[in-house]
Amino acid sequence: MGPDEFKQRFGRPCEVIARAPGRVNLIGDHTDYNEGFVLPLAVERHTRVFAARRDDARVRVHSSAAGETIEWPIDDWAASQFPHWTSYIAGVASLLRQRGARLNGCDLLIQSDVPLGGGLSSSAALEVAAAKALTCISGEALDSNDVADLCREAEHRFAGVPCGIMDQLASLLSKRDTALLLDCRSRAYEHIPFALVDHIVLIIDSGVRHALAESAYAKRVEECNHAVAHFRGLNAAVRSLRDVSIETVRAQMLQMPPLVAARAHHVVSENRRVQAAAEALRRGDIESLGPHMAASHRSLRDDYEVSCGELDEIVSSLTAMRGVVGCRMTGAGFGGCVVAIVHRAARESIQAGLLRRAGELGKPAWATLETRAGDGATIELA
Ligand code: GLA
Repeated sequence: MGPDEFKQRFGRPCEVIARAPGRVNLIGDHTDYNEGFVLPLAVERHTRVFAARRDDARVRVHSSAAGETIEWPIDDWAASQFPHWTSYIAGVASLLRQRGARLNGCDLLIQSDVPLGGGLSSSAALEVAAAKALTCISGEALDSNDVADLCREAEHRFAGVPCGIMDQLASLLSKRDTALLLDCRSRAYEHIPFALVDHIVLIIDSGVRHALAESAYAKRVEECNHAVAHFRGLNAAVRSLRDVSIETVRAQMLQMPPLVAARAHHVVSENRRVQAAAEALRRGDIESLGPHMAASHRSLRDDYEVSCGELDEIVSSLTAMRGVVGCRMTGAGFGGCVVAIVHRAARESIQAGLLRRAGELGKPAWATLETRAGDGATIELA
């Protein structure tokens, strides 16, 4: 247990416990950095940061997963001297200080059961939990939008991924038994009831992690910017792909480089699918999610080109199975996970079907995770 390990390691009890979940996105991928809509939920897997103040201005962090302890003076931080996992925490600490927060020295213990690097936003969970712990320990108050912005900036500057705001806000704002409809432009959000009774959310990890995922992601962001420049040439009011209708995209297909047109088509059509899926959920009509999820996967595969052979294989295997309401790749892609909504009664036959298919393909069994929609980040006194 965390508090016991903290005491053993640091010789005194922890004072606060911050907890932030990973997320899975039901629908709406690569829309967030285009000021569009997303519909994620928190998974019941968390990163926990146990923390206590120190009298000196040093930060000492131990990660149970990495089995490492790193220590540095809070006002003297250089990214290069740290292993990858610490750059998220040190990055958050350094950005907090740049924004004028007066951070206390502290000891931190990190524990997590969010699968690492698997598309469930383990990094956002770590950033958010670290930001919550550091601010609480230092008596600083930040609202969710500020925490999300800061954590996203840490991801941009210290992890080198020009990500949108979905993962951080999903980790902060999610609520049990609801899906989070989020407008990434206005930051308005709605908790849509998603208390599953006859269904479950099943997450299937393709096991694939592409080394070039970060540069491929950045390339997509760039291609979207090209598309925005094209549409702004037609209408000066266009600020992002959010401002472009599907009719305009279709009418302009041949006037743009084909790749840029395809990227825009994905983003603009995906925004519509998110709205349609949200509407279905508001009616409590889970079964209607299926076609929207299928269309989303095709669009991410063909127009946005962020799927991969294994993700497509899992999706087509699931699509052929009884009891599967809908499925699609989820998150950034280039490997990572598939999210599926399946009938509770069919979960065993579906798992068996996946195992059989992996065997036929000569691949190791795909890891699966069942979840319900969980709560967002919390902080408590130990
Ligand atoms: C990653 C990013 C998010 C979002 C998704 C794709 O998870 O961190 O901001 O862009 O990819 O939807």
